[in-house]
Amino acid sequence: MKYGLFDDARREYVITRPDTPLPWINYLGSQDYFGIISNTAGGYSFYRDARLRRLTRYRYNNVPFDTGGRYLYLRDDTSGEYWSPTWQPVRRPLEDYTCRHGMGYTIIGSTFSGIAAEVRYFVPLDETLEIWQVSVTNRRAEPADLSLFSFVEFALWDAQDDMTNFQRNFNTGEVEIEDGADPGIGGVIYHKTEYRERRDHFAYFACSAPLAGYDTQREAFLGPYQGFDTPQAVIDGRARNSHAHGWAPVGSHHVRLALGPGESRRLIFVLGYQENPRDRKFDPPGSQVINKATVKPIIARYLDPAQADAAFDALRAYWDGLLGGFQVDTPDEHTDRMVNIWNAYQCMVTFNLSRSASFYESGVGRGMGFRDSSQDLLGFVHMIPARARERILDIAATQLPDGGAYHQYQPLTKRGNDAIGSNFNDDPLWLVLGTAAYIKETGDWDILNESVAYDNDDSLAAPLYNHLQRAMGYTLDRLGPHGLPLIGRADWNDCLNLNTFSAEPGESFQTTTNMDGKVAESVFIAGLFTLAAGEMTGIARHLGLSDEAARYRDAAAQLDAAVQAHGWDGAWFRRAYDHFGQPVGSQECEEGQIFIEPQGMCVMGGMGLKDGRALQALDSVAERLATDHGIVLHQPAYTQYYLNLGEISTYPPGYKENAGIFCHNNPWIMIAEAIVGRSDRAFDYYRRICPSAREAISDVHRCEPYVYAQMIAGKDAPTHGEAKNSWLTGTAAWNYVAITQWILGIRPAFEGLEIAPVIPADWPGFSATRQFRGATYAITVRREGPGSSASLVVDGEPLAGTVVPHRPGVTARTVEVTLR
Ligand code: GLC
Ligand code: GLC
Repeated sequence: MKYGLFDDARREYVITRPDTPLPWINYLGSQDYFGIISNTAGGYSFYRDARLRRLTRYRYNNVPFDTGGRYLYLRDDTSGEYWSPTWQPVRRPLEDYTCRHGMGYTIIGSTFSGIAAEVRYFVPLDETLEIWQVSVTNRRAEPADLSLFSFVEFALWDAQDDMTNFQRNFNTGEVEIEDGADPGIGGVIYHKTEYRERRDHFAYFACSAPLAGYDTQREAFLGPYQGFDTPQAVIDGRARNSHAHGWAPVGSHHVRLALGPGESRRLIFVLGYQENPRDRKFDPPGSQVINKATVKPIIARYLDPAQADAAFDALRAYWDGLLGGFQVDTPDEHTDRMVNIWNAYQCMVTFNLSRSASFYESGVGRGMGFRDSSQDLLGFVHMIPARARERILDIAATQLPDGGAYHQYQPLTKRGNDAIGSNFNDDPLWLVLGTAAYIKETGDWDILNESVAYDNDDSLAAPLYNHLQRAMGYTLDRLGPHGLPLIGRADWNDCLNLNTFSAEPGESFQTTTNMDGKVAESVFIAGLFTLAAGEMTGIARHLGLSDEAARYRDAAAQLDAAVQAHGWDGAWFRRAYDHFGQPVGSQECEEGQIFIEPQGMCVMGGMGLKDGRALQALDSVAERLATDHGIVLHQPAYTQYYLNLGEISTYPPGYKENAGIFCHNNPWIMIAEAIVGRSDRAFDYYRRICPSAREAISDVHRCEPYVYAQMIAGKDAPTHGEAKNSWLTGTAAWNYVAITQWILGIRPAFEGLEIAPVIPADWPGFSATRQFRGATYAITVRREGPGSSASLVVDGEPLAGTVVPHRPGVTARTVEVTLR
């Protein structure tokens, strides 16, 4: 069953009923000010850091699930009936409900009893505020007397403290109110908790219309024992003009609207964040009153409808620019809309938010992952190369002098996170892949010469290239009894904890280490190393370091040989060796006989391509791991807790890392299938987890049909096919890479743009335009035979091979590809 439809021309997903299986969300903001918004106006906003600068309150894991948001209430002042045009929080049945989630904005509208209302939420570029543009239309034959109430609940800044430290927080809340007497500015509610002391920032919530009243104390607005769905002020049609002192500061404006038949009114609300210079916080100086001189011009500007519209147009133009650099036209509508719109958009959201704030990530938890952020780069580097460059240098500066990495770093301080520490032995290698992707995209070899600190200590700084060398060395310095890389605390699979042996409830599987770590080995890291070694060989060659290039080739061959000798199980690659030297992911095991990760990564690293092992491994995946909903992580699922395997065996079978469909690693199999030339299989796997292609089964999938989720429940789970943890996942980047670079085959290379499509046999071809190093490539692919052997004609000249060499100064190129 479907709950909406794609409007590709507008780059929107249109939700046509409010009761989606889960809240279907979108993101507002692209630089400093961010918000999450559900299809019924749930969500919250924050400035930069979802934990430390939370502007509005949201109650995770609440009942109803999606509680707290950017709420509006309409009331018919004649009948006393009231409703929310966004459905929540009142949940009265509405006519013509639609929610349009677009690129950085959301529009929700509906009609109730002849009153149509629509609200457009967005964050203007370069501003630390959000705009709610509201229009209300009377479609009745008679005049209508209405009340409109706005509502947000302020968070007391530190979201973690806000939900725990009530003995203090029920006393600190403070606001200021301007009731609209100031010409040009309507009513403004200022939230200034802790402004009297060390905070130089405040939030504000302004309304363009004259106010009939306002509220700033939650209990006064709602009434004791009443919820957001039944606010007493709305029931009575009368705000209380309350001033918050302690308890729970909120912002609510009350506006009266008298609309003749057919008449419309437009209103604007602005919710924002403002910092003042410390020495000019108060006006008059020495008072406790906020100096509003800095913020009033901003408020006045965006309460002006023409300025608000112009800001919205600028936002659209920004997204046209970001997405316009790579557009494809294929025989498959799902591919087109994911590549051209939604998958690219999700990659930008992961750039902005990493893993911090979604409806599954509470904004108070994880920092930036070393491996996660390095992989996310793969999906957005072509859209924002300059910011990708910055990100690479930030990540590298947290690397440790021995080549290892803090598993996470904090976005505000950009320092490694001591609490989680290091020894996730795959981590450093992802930096090599991220950096290689950046160089291939931009041709900016200079980045390798940038001097970058180790462990944020400038006295240890060395060129970025040295960081990559040490990342490679880190693996080679840590080989185990079979000559395979030691796994440490975990590799890509955070939950395969072979040195943990935890018997204490609540102990962290990622940070507890009870074994010395000198035995447990990872075949996956061997595959990842060979892939990274390929990149390092290319880099060293370009730099003219032929001896070094040869050393990386040799090191890759050494690990390839170790995998042949000890990592091959007869029909697939083994996963690991545990602390006792026993194989994991082998026929010898009772459970967990075959894992997805090494089948993908070893083939991507080039293993088994000549001797048939690659094909065999991928056939084993097809036979044992593939389901209609995607490829599960391993089989058989673990049915009990294994001390020697760790968190992977804590999940009930079929969920998360215990044989769930972990959508992050499915594209590795798509890429591996493309590498061995099996185009139909590669694309079939792509389609199985493609959100758009799963739209028709939204009642099974349940998460948003426009973005990937981290996980879909595997075949061992009673809810097989149900997705969870949408939006912030490495799945976004890797699926983007699989479809654009390996299936459509448009792949940046060190010396130019490679075009080597491995598309389904029944596709007659496709076309694409792509910006690459200052040139626009117009690419047409035509099938003349059933295979994937490509011949290229570039600007009218036949080309040997598939890499179109970069030509500085040339701004437009045409590439005609014939597949046979
Ligand atoms: C989560 C983590 C990622 C890890 C994956 C598998 O997505 O963010 O770092 O690789 O789980 O455990
Ligand atoms: C938990 C999650 C896993 C994630 C990890 C991040 O183990 O199950 O998916 O990668 O936390 O630290």
